[in-house]
Amino acid sequence: TDLLSVTLNRLTLKNPILVASGTFGYAREMQPFLDFSKLGGIIPKTITTEPRIGNPPPRTIETSAGLLNSIGLDNDGIDLFLEKHLNYLASLETALIVNIAGRSIDEMAVMASRLDAFGDQIAALELNISCPNVSGGVDYGTQPELTEKMLKQVTESCQLPIIAKLTPNVTSVVDIAQAAAAGGADAVSLINTVQGTAIDWRRRKPILGGIFGGLSGPAIKPVALRVVCQVARAVEIPIIGVGGISNIDDVMEFIVAGASAVQIGTANFYNPGLATQLVGELEQVVLEEKCAHVSELVGSLVYPE
Ligand code: DOR
Repeated sequence: TDLLSVTLNRLTLKNPILVASGTFGYAREMQPFLDFSKLGGIIPKTITTEPRIGNPPPRTIETSAGLLNSIGLDNDGIDLFLEKHLNYLASLETALIVNIAGRSIDEMAVMASRLDAFGDQIAALELNISCPNVSGGVDYGTQPELTEKMLKQVTESCQLPIIAKLTPNVTSVVDIAQAAAAGGADAVSLINTVQGTAIDWRRRKPILGGIFGGLSGPAIKPVALRVVCQVARAVEIPIIGVGGISNIDDVMEFIVAGASAVQIGTANFYNPGLATQLVGELEQVVLEEKCAHVSELVGSLVYPE
């Protein structure tokens, strides 16, 4: 029986467990470790119009509080993506959600309309309007007016379902999520990484080549849960929860907080098989909770009066 299917407006997935952009490459390297067809979907690393070399090294470090990265959207660009990766990714018997970033609204809309032509291979687009590591990369995700304008233009340029991935590095994620909903987004992914840095005090130097970076992993789960709770209570839009998920209890916390689906990110680096394992565990929990469908658990958190 179907306990786990999810519908995020125009996007339907066989289950709510996805792998987060930037933590799964273009899937090829992960093939030995898991059965892709068990996943709800795969979100490959952000692509941009032109190839990018990213920030100087070091670009990732493990701190005692989590992983810090300043990759800077290193990627081969959309042409090589279409040429080298799309057919492989589309062959994987799971939903392919292509993550894109543009430096302007027009650039994002042009990328979306190019990808629209591959609508038979792509389930949805995720707009990265929240990368902390490129200059100008977050404007569209930190100003509600620009977020709405971006979403409107992209949804006009493209028939595919659209997910907006939002940054936690703002005063009110609720305002940005509201703007994404007003612009026609099918769902929001909450959250991208939390801005941070690391310092080698003896050398009097920042450690990351990019100086500042994005913190991920279990350290940011409370931040992500807080944002999911806030948006779930204030905005009518499906939520994909992401931030520090490393076991089934983490998944359930996001679901009861209001996430219809979740993304596994940093944990993929430590345990590539985790995401598929969580699909089975989620099915068990739904049965144990005597629910006919996982959707009964979404947003079931009870707040004190
Ligand atoms: O933490 C992040 N790092 N978030 C992004 O959206 C992109 C990535 C990078 O490439 O720097």
